[in-house]
Amino acid sequence: MTAGAGHIPVLAAEALEALAVRDGGVYVDATFGGGGHSRAILAHADCRVIGIDRDPEAVARGRALEAQEPRFSMIAGRFGELDRLLADAGVPAVDGVLFDLGVSSFQLDEPERGFSFLREGPLDMRMERRGPSAADLVNRLREEELARILQEYGEEPAARRIARAIVRRRRERPLRTTGELAALVAEAVGRAPRHHHPATRTFQALRIAVNDELGEIERGLAAAVRVLRPGGRLVVITFHSLEDRLVKRFIQMHSDRPGGGSRHRPLPERSGPPLLHWVIRRPLVPSPEEIARNPRARSAKLRAAERLAAAGEAEESHPCRDAMPC
Ligand SMILES: C[S@@+](CC[C@H](N)C(=O)[O-])C[C@H]1O[C@@H](n2cnc3c(N)ncnc32)[C@H](O)[C@@H]1O
Repeated sequence: MTAGAGHIPVLAAEALEALAVRDGGVYVDATFGGGGHSRAILAHADCRVIGIDRDPEAVARGRALEAQEPRFSMIAGRFGELDRLLADAGVPAVDGVLFDLGVSSFQLDEPERGFSFLREGPLDMRMERRGPSAADLVNRLREEELARILQEYGEEPAARRIARAIVRRRRERPLRTTGELAALVAEAVGRAPRHHHPATRTFQALRIAVNDELGEIERGLAAAVRVLRPGGRLVVITFHSLEDRLVKRFIQMHSDRPGGGSRHRPLPERSGPPLLHWVIRRPLVPSPEEIARNPRARSAKLRAAERLAAAGEAEESHPCRDAMPC
């Protein structure tokens, strides 16, 4: 196993401010990874942090932090089940939930995990290391289903051409490695769009499908709203437009600010009262200095909202309410 070079937390100072971290608070780092954000929160205030991750290697890193830091606890699981995981741990409500979506540098840099087209390894991509892998998908799915995944989750204009090339190739022999798939896509697509490896979108699409990433985000956001105390903060860092669109639509749909959606995709009707108030609606992005230090931060966007009190819930005055521009 090759050890990753480590993961540099993205928009860390901005996330702390958006979470309004304070003494006595309880915060969930729903995507522990290398623990960069958890450590930053713990260093910022005398508070408690609960880390969650579905990747067994991230969980092992969390257990190591747990052994040194009594204010930290680690839970293995999916953030789509965040409310159940917290209830099982005896935590009924929290003051902030942070999602730093996508994959960590640990996962990307380890060839064995199969997440990167830049590193030769098995075509795996399973965060949890169980269930069907990317190789299972490319070798088993029907051509139309493969094209749909590439189109929907990769927004790949050459989805049909790539799906056809995959099916033609696997008739000879199954695709087994990242390098084989990356070369096949490059051949099928022809010239690479500027600044992008031609397999970028295909790898993103397969990773999203293998891990049901968009379904997890929908379930995770809904679960976060259920566990946040009134005044608590929901903070989400996204890395591509599909993630960001989901987050924006979710917050807008539950927000006390009318509008949003588009003519083509109007927001679904909300059944109850508004539950969220936008804190950071126009997304924060990394500074040029942060991108120079950490190029993987370049597509990051941070949005944040505050949990409102629903009817019957005690309104808690929060010192940081509306502290940041909306
Ligand atoms: C971008 S990394 C987080 C990095 C972390 N903030 C840090 O500073 O080190 C995303 C992490 O979220 C985890 N993850 C992704 N989807 C998840 C899900 N549905 N449930 C739990 N963990 C998930 C991944 O395994 C990965 O470790």
